[in-house]
Amino acid sequence: MAAGNSQAGGRIAIAITGASGALYAVKTLSELLARGTHVELVVSDYGKRLLRDELGDEASIEKLLPYLAAKYGEKVNAGSLTVHSNRDLGATIASGSHNCSAMAIVPCSMKTLAGIAHGLSRNLVERAADVMLKERRPLVIVPRETPMSLPALRNMVLCAEAGAMIVPAMPAFYQQPRSLDDLADFMAGKILSALGFDHSLYPQWTGRVDS
Ligand SMILES: Cc1cc2nc3c(=O)[nH]c(=O)nc-3n(C[C@H](O)[C@H](O)[C@H](O)COP(=O)(O)O)c2cc1C
Repeated sequence: MAAGNSQAGGRIAIAITGASGALYAVKTLSELLARGTHVELVVSDYGKRLLRDELGDEASIEKLLPYLAAKYGEKVNAGSLTVHSNRDLGATIASGSHNCSAMAIVPCSMKTLAGIAHGLSRNLVERAADVMLKERRPLVIVPRETPMSLPALRNMVLCAEAGAMIVPAMPAFYQQPRSLDDLADFMAGKILSALGFDHSLYPQWTGRVDS
């Protein structure tokens, strides 16, 4: 999969669905915005519930930009955000002619994973993901479930075969995280790398753990 995003600016689609891990989503969003990216955001109904349940009412979709600025700093205002309805299959990111260069679904539920694997395009998240696959643009899927059913495992293989990058919500511990934010930084870094952005959200492995 060719990534090749410029390090500043550009348009990236981000989807948030109803799997645990809202912190990964908001950290990824803040990093993209801080780079001056235009983010086209679509949040499923259960994704909206996830933002509130895991991060509180202040992170609800209507208040997301102020929440990001309060948590990560005013640098997020370098970028811009368009929020699409998941029911709007006529939104910009539903078309391959729209110049959105890559998409990440973070976190991705097993339901949305199944919809993408089978090309269902039942809503904007699934349609925009299908557009990325058909246009051969980077699609980063961040699934979260445990244990995983055989259908979920097979759906990940189908998506990978179609060209998506599967980046499981699976933070590491070699970087000696001290907080939930450290764990989120690790996952956001993996997602940014998959989207083609440089970052320093976790240390490069040097062959040994420094304490
Ligand atoms: C609190 C809560 C946590 C959930 N966590 C997960 C999860 O980690 N992974 C998953 O696949 N589904 C999870 N679900 C179930 C999905 O939200 C559900 O299947 C939903 O229909 C997904 O729809 P969406 O993909 O359109 O957001 C969770 C649901 C709730 C209410």
